[in-house]
Amino acid sequence: MIEFKDVTKSFKNVDAVKGVTCEIRDREVFGLLGPNGAGKTTLIMTMATVYNPTRGEVFVEGHSASAEPDKVKALIGISFQDPKYDRILSAREILEWHAKVTGVEKGVREKRIDEVLAKFGLTGEARKRTWTLSGGTKKKIENAKVFVQRPKIAVFDEPTAYLDVPSRLMVWDMIDELRDEGSTVVLATNMMDEADRMSDRVGIMSRGEMVRVGEPAALKGSLRGRDVIEMKLGVPIPELPGEVSKVEEVKEARFEGDVLKIVLSNGRGLLPHMINVVTAKGGTVQSVNLKEPSLEDVFLYYTGMKLS
Ligand SMILES: Nc1ncnc2c1ncn2[C@@H]1O[C@H](COP(=O)(O)OP(=O)(O)O)[C@@H](O)[C@H]1O
Ligand SMILES: [Mg+2]
Repeated sequence: MIEFKDVTKSFKNVDAVKGVTCEIRDREVFGLLGPNGAGKTTLIMTMATVYNPTRGEVFVEGHSASAEPDKVKALIGISFQDPKYDRILSAREILEWHAKVTGVEKGVREKRIDEVLAKFGLTGEARKRTWTLSGGTKKKIENAKVFVQRPKIAVFDEPTAYLDVPSRLMVWDMIDELRDEGSTVVLATNMMDEADRMSDRVGIMSRGEMVRVGEPAALKGSLRGRDVIEMKLGVPIPELPGEVSKVEEVKEARFEGDVLKIVLSNGRGLLPHMINVVTAKGGTVQSVNLKEPSLEDVFLYYTGMKLS
């Protein structure tokens, strides 16, 4: 188990993480969600012993990250958001070095490295110097470090940023495999589909605070009454948001381009009525879409980035 106890991390006058208290359970995939600047990376760095909290403490399997960093480091493998490599090293050298220092047995090192490189389609690039590699390739190497290490606690900070779709799917499969083998996984991301697909539970961060923790399904359920109707209109009519907002169940309404987006309770029941209201004002409805809350809606709602 990983326990964050009232963790605050400040940089000069920026409070990057503010009083976060939460637990990550053994063998779960914990998705850490939040917009850019929310404090995800900083929080991860406190558990990875890279930063000491300004206040509060992090415990990893009972060991304090600040008082017993070596014990904590031995449990964790981390794929950093922005890896900085020594330019003269190649992918293979980076992985060999990483495997060695994290104690991967000599007998299995080469085999694992070969396997992971092959899965990422990097076999041909494994001996190139890293400065010649693209951002996506560097990201693959960074993830590969953790897949070679196979740590008790695997931490991935935006592991699929810059990756193409097949590589993203590959990373997701490999993370699933790690979890099946018994690793606990912390996955920081701002991609909702990734968090929803991968996580047993998610923690939503906003402006340094942990604003919500729960299973994706439970969080979506907490927004019951926030269905969304999207109506594509031939021509947007400016007074329509005001008009549909007169209906009691409507919480928010606005245009996104030529799509009228209405947030309301009982979307299913009120759909015909909404179409009538729009048509009565001269709107031509070209298509209609009813959505129950998605993880993205949950995220936008709890980070205060909701429709207004
Ligand atoms: N080393 C640092 N020095 C100063 N400010 C920092 C540093 N690292 C992060 N910050 C600031 O802390 C806040 C949280 O950043 P970060 O943890 O990187 O968020 P996220 O990973 O969610 O995008 C941001 O405002 C960022 O600018
Ligand atoms: Mg980050």
